[in-house]
Amino acid sequence: MFSASHARSRKLGGGIQKVFQRALAATAQHGDSVINASIGMALDDRGQLFASDVLMEELRALKPSDICSYGPIAGIPDYLVGTTRLFLGEDCEPLPREQAPAGGVLLETPDTGHLICPVATLGGSSGLSLVMNNYLERGASFLTSNYFWGPYETMADARGVKMGHFDLFGLHGGFNLDSFGRGLRSIGGESVMVLLNDPAHNPTGYCMTGADWDGVADQLKNEARRRKVVLLLDAAYMGYYRSFEEDRLIVRRLLERRLPDNVLLIVAGSCSKAFLAYGLRVGTCIAVHRDRGVLQEFFDCLEFNIRGEYSNIARGAMQAVGNICKDSGKMGRHMQEVGRVRLTLHERYRIWGEAAHDVGLATAPYRAGYFLVVTCDRPQDAANGLEEDLIFTVPIREGIRIAICSVTGDKLRGLPVRIAERVAARVSR
Ligand SMILES: Cc1ncc(COP(=O)(O)O)c(C=O)c1O
Repeated sequence: MFSASHARSRKLGGGIQKVFQRALAATAQHGDSVINASIGMALDDRGQLFASDVLMEELRALKPSDICSYGPIAGIPDYLVGTTRLFLGEDCEPLPREQAPAGGVLLETPDTGHLICPVATLGGSSGLSLVMNNYLERGASFLTSNYFWGPYETMADARGVKMGHFDLFGLHGGFNLDSFGRGLRSIGGESVMVLLNDPAHNPTGYCMTGADWDGVADQLKNEARRRKVVLLLDAAYMGYYRSFEEDRLIVRRLLERRLPDNVLLIVAGSCSKAFLAYGLRVGTCIAVHRDRGVLQEFFDCLEFNIRGEYSNIARGAMQAVGNICKDSGKMGRHMQEVGRVRLTLHERYRIWGEAAHDVGLATAPYRAGYFLVVTCDRPQDAANGLEEDLIFTVPIREGIRIAICSVTGDKLRGLPVRIAERVAARVSR
């Protein structure tokens, strides 16, 4: 073996991408009889990828220098300002360049006295991974829900940190604030990090209510009396519950709850979903705090880490997104496209719900988004059985994840009955 000892046992196990690759191979062999419910890419009801015409036009119009010249490590200003406004609010105002970290931008909220520092990341994924790397001691744990996006585990492993869990749902299917509080207190260390994915949570499609968020904010405030707290909000699916304007109010609501200075809020945004551009690999990691020094530290840590890992992200992709963000006409057209996807997902869930109800399939509480979870015993067995039927899903601990985003309405109608056969067969055997 040639690899270093710390790398030797590393191997990407089942994983979403692996199922996706098997689904593609099956499609090449069996064609349209395959149902690929594995991955988070939205397809329309003809089976074509939803794509934003505005983004495609903008990409085609880029000049060679927009694409080929190096960009700054932390990202180009138009992109940083544009995506901050997208995820936090149009009224966030850039401060004069002298006040920003060198090579970055600094904005402020108009009403709550917070400063904002965004850094461009390689999709939302690398933002999450960079924060784990820079805000957790090696071996420390962060808290997230028991239903979680599988790559969190891989990122944690790769960064030498661990995950702790709270139960996302209480007895009546709402957010389990008691479990969240217990989880928070059970994580040791001088500081604690919480990772929440909202709205349109992957894998369940749950969306936290305003009251859920207020409860979380109160618990964090309480915890912040004795140690530092980092709240990492994975906002990959912002704009898929309601519009962006409404969904991003989560963040403003948190800031209005007057989080104490012992709490650092970091929002990880993804253009994979916000711009329907999964393969472009653009995201933004946005830190929010009242103290400039805290944001300078955030910027320094991430800039250093990015330089040490991949230097910076695709300049052309940032330019195209930045151009759209600063043109309200283009942004309006783009948002119509995202709205079309959102409506399609709502309709898919309606179709699913009717058919699933008829066969008595239980799903975790869904409100919006790309995925839902069929809760069942022995999920891996159920998923294996479904693959024999050419149905590709992702097994998780609590059941199987169905990417309704990528299954056309027609196929979805017949899916619950086929899943019910396999789930029942496997469970009762
Ligand atoms: C929960 C969640 N967070 C973050 C991401 C980030 O994705 P990307 O790296 O493509 O921006 C995804 C994408 O599937 C996701 O599902």
